[in-house]
Amino acid sequence: MTTAGSVTAPPADVLREADRRRTFAVISHPDAGKSTLTEALALHARVISEAGAVHGKAGRRGVVSDWMEMEKARGISITSAALQFAYGDAVVNLLDTPGHSDFSEDTYRVLAAVDSAVMLLDAAKGLEPQTLKLFDVCRHRGIPVITFVNKWDRPGRDALELCDELVERIGLQPMPLTWPVGEAGHFRGVVDRRDGQFIRYSRTAGGATAAAQERLDPARAEAEEGAEWTRAVEELDLLAASGGDFDLDRFLAASATPVLFGSAVLNFGVRHLLDLLVDLAPRPTPRPDVDARPRGLDAPFSAFVFKVQTGMDPSHRDQVAFARVCSGVFERGMVVTNATTGKPFATKYVQQVFGQQRSTLDVAYPGDVIGLVNAHSLRVGDTLYTDKPAVRFPGLPSFAPAHFAAVRPADLSRSKQFRKGIEQLGAEGVVQILRSARRGDGAPVFAAVGPMQFEVAAHRLDAEFKSPVRLDRLPYTVVRRLPDPAHQPLVDNNRGEVLTRADGTHLALFPDSTALGVLKRLHPEVVLEPLVAGT
Ligand code: G4P
Repeated sequence: MTTAGSVTAPPADVLREADRRRTFAVISHPDAGKSTLTEALALHARVISEAGAVHGKAGRRGVVSDWMEMEKARGISITSAALQFAYGDAVVNLLDTPGHSDFSEDTYRVLAAVDSAVMLLDAAKGLEPQTLKLFDVCRHRGIPVITFVNKWDRPGRDALELCDELVERIGLQPMPLTWPVGEAGHFRGVVDRRDGQFIRYSRTAGGATAAAQERLDPARAEAEEGAEWTRAVEELDLLAASGGDFDLDRFLAASATPVLFGSAVLNFGVRHLLDLLVDLAPRPTPRPDVDARPRGLDAPFSAFVFKVQTGMDPSHRDQVAFARVCSGVFERGMVVTNATTGKPFATKYVQQVFGQQRSTLDVAYPGDVIGLVNAHSLRVGDTLYTDKPAVRFPGLPSFAPAHFAAVRPADLSRSKQFRKGIEQLGAEGVVQILRSARRGDGAPVFAAVGPMQFEVAAHRLDAEFKSPVRLDRLPYTVVRRLPDPAHQPLVDNNRGEVLTRADGTHLALFPDSTALGVLKRLHPEVVLEPLVAGT
């Protein structure tokens, strides 16, 4: 993978280097085409950077399969790593948001490390549950979102209907920058709304390289595409009437989203997406510290850890901490201070974030992600810095859990280790630890965004603390914040349970929305607040 010619620039260029960075993640539901889009983006950048390089299907597959190979080699498939590539003068950092069964709190935390997100929708499915959850986090954090409607080469929903869904379900104003000509499944190309021209796509063999494109003026498009062109133009008129024109401020304020239509597998629209990211997506900005003072990008080095990954294989207990650089220049070998402990951390072994390979990283700038190897002392939320005065960024929030399991030691003689382990995993954010007087201190409940977190926690208790555990999944699916714990008996009486998180938040858990509905009807005085994804 091209890793940008950036790494040799002198420290004085930090502002210029930061300005080149576009750090984003793709948010989507499994199967929407995230892996396909990731490789298409990387391939596109490479094809364009190395003009003339043609990669067949085998080459195209390379980017992603290597990535997965890396994951296998580490014996764990829950990485939130990043792929870095140069595109024109920009350096693009694409952070991975794990999905499928490995959807977890880490997936959400990645969004604390990006400056923008691409919301990838399957044209036939529109907004799906996992996308909605991730979008909630983006909304909560004010992250600008670009929408890419994928799989337009296959039969799917109507473009206007998909746009309406954005407004109606999530209150996000769509601002299409392109508009499809030909309904889903009969994709001819798009109208470029900037100049009204028709960009006609033609398939390349296997969709392996950048798709061939042709620009036609509207008169010729009408002559050649007939009714399909006319329909697209009429739909665009409707859109313009409903306020769908592009407005940069609204995009940056995260209240409206530019929309592109395409097909990742055929490379339709991918280049447009890259151009859009480079032209309009936010660059790194000064990050506020715990006292809400923004830290200038050219201040001395600082970063925060947004993910810690421990190998599942006890024989090579490597631990990699992923940190996003917030200010200054990172140079390998630097000794950084962990603001939480005040202790130094030597950065001799620092990886280039994972793309195709695990290579050594020498220099990084604001917006980049560094992987610190053997980072046993680092925890999620830690701030790293070099020069005094110390800086500390706000810790990462907890997220609304969706899965619950009671945990107890399988071997009672290891109770002490069990307690120590639970405390440690809670502090690291591997799982959330919930307790109640009824269950007792020695029998906490694990709460997680995805069930994979339970497996990781149980494995670590066994492998690191020598305390094997028993997990009993609890049948709760609905969770609310209960501001007044005095209402606990009412929750209990309605098939619910109240548990308290380490941050003091009282959570009311219910098996289903019927139980919640009954309680609300019988006791309207009980305040139950939805848990925002990022709280
Ligand atoms: P994910 O990472 O979001 O889970 O999705 P992934 O890229 O693995 O894509 C899921 C499936 O959707 C794959 O098909 C992929 O080829 C297909 N796909 C992705 N983008 C497009 C698109 O623009 N158009 C069409 N028609 N299909 C698309 P698969 O059958 O599961 O795998 P494969 O055998 O094709 O690799």
